[in-house]
Amino acid sequence: MSDVLRPRPAVLRMAPYSPPTAGRAGKLRLDFNENTVGCSPRVLAFLRERLTADGLTVYPEYVEAKPELAAFFGVAPEELLFTNGTDEAIQVVVNTYVDDGDDVLLLRPSYAMYRFYAEVAGAALREIDYRAKDLAFPLDELLAAIGPATRAILIANPNNPTGSAVDLAGIEKILRAAPGAAILIDEAYFEFYGVTALPLLREHPNLFVSRTFSKVYGMAAMRMGCLFSRAENIAYLRKAQSPYSVNALAVAAARVAVRDPEYIESYVREALAARDMVRAGLDELGIPYFPSEGNFILMKIGPRAIEVRDRLRDKGVLVRDRSYEIAGCVRVTVGSREQMRRFLEELKAVWR
Ligand SMILES: Cc1ncc(COP(=O)(O)O)c(C=O)c1O
Repeated sequence: MSDVLRPRPAVLRMAPYSPPTAGRAGKLRLDFNENTVGCSPRVLAFLRERLTADGLTVYPEYVEAKPELAAFFGVAPEELLFTNGTDEAIQVVVNTYVDDGDDVLLLRPSYAMYRFYAEVAGAALREIDYRAKDLAFPLDELLAAIGPATRAILIANPNNPTGSAVDLAGIEKILRAAPGAAILIDEAYFEFYGVTALPLLREHPNLFVSRTFSKVYGMAAMRMGCLFSRAENIAYLRKAQSPYSVNALAVAAARVAVRDPEYIESYVREALAARDMVRAGLDELGIPYFPSEGNFILMKIGPRAIEVRDRLRDKGVLVRDRSYEIAGCVRVTVGSREQMRRFLEELKAVWR
């Protein structure tokens, strides 16, 4: 071991993070909050037709795509940065604003990559717990934790895995309380919740909003995200981002995807109907769960959490254990009603 190069202390301190992405093919994948039926067929058709050797030889450029996607999201092109998934949006915000030892506020439990990038940066992390009883957003506790030295606050809205959300009035309070902090509102599940902080951008110079094509758009493999802020902020973020981090196919696919809004609307309608169905099914089985604004439900399975997860996997249904962060809890992604009927049947067999 003595000849191994020693990494930075921040990296030494980190616990490795490896989400269970292996062996998911052919299973009913209710474990990553993805779209469970796939992207718009138009996206696939486009990629199949347009993939040429000539197209692959050139470095990506975003000149045409930028105004088109900006118009879709209702912002100016200068207020938008393409990112390699939300993950790179988080990374770029942290790299632009957070130095070693800086005060960064996160909520707990939440999406793992906030902690990941803040830790890589060597930030002094503080985590505020979602409310113990109902996992509601701890607005007062967060406001009380904000200090003059707070440099970044990273919030998923709605939050994964709790499903809880904060309203715009709450977000505005946070923005006003922390004028010196970069505040990221990660709207990965926006389409299921319908509330966005985008209209607050012009008023609040410390606001950053991210969206992704990984969830409802069914394109997680593409790694395509969008980060929004005031034009001056975006110019700084661009300095801290590699110029070609978003590949040309991802950008082209996103342009086609937003031209088929009916596909997304119909998937959202289906998933919301399926979410009601799952709630009713869980009520029937006597399994408690938390309220959710996303395409997933956090179930309070209890001491059998891991066993239930494993037995469902044996039947070809993948769900995500979260008992390591909220005792006894397992998260299930909501897909179509047909898929959720199968999930409930298998769960019933395992549960009884
Ligand atoms: C809150 C939240 N943000 C972002 C992501 C991932 O987004 P992306 O695939 O765009 O990096 C997830 C995925 O689970 C998530 O739950």
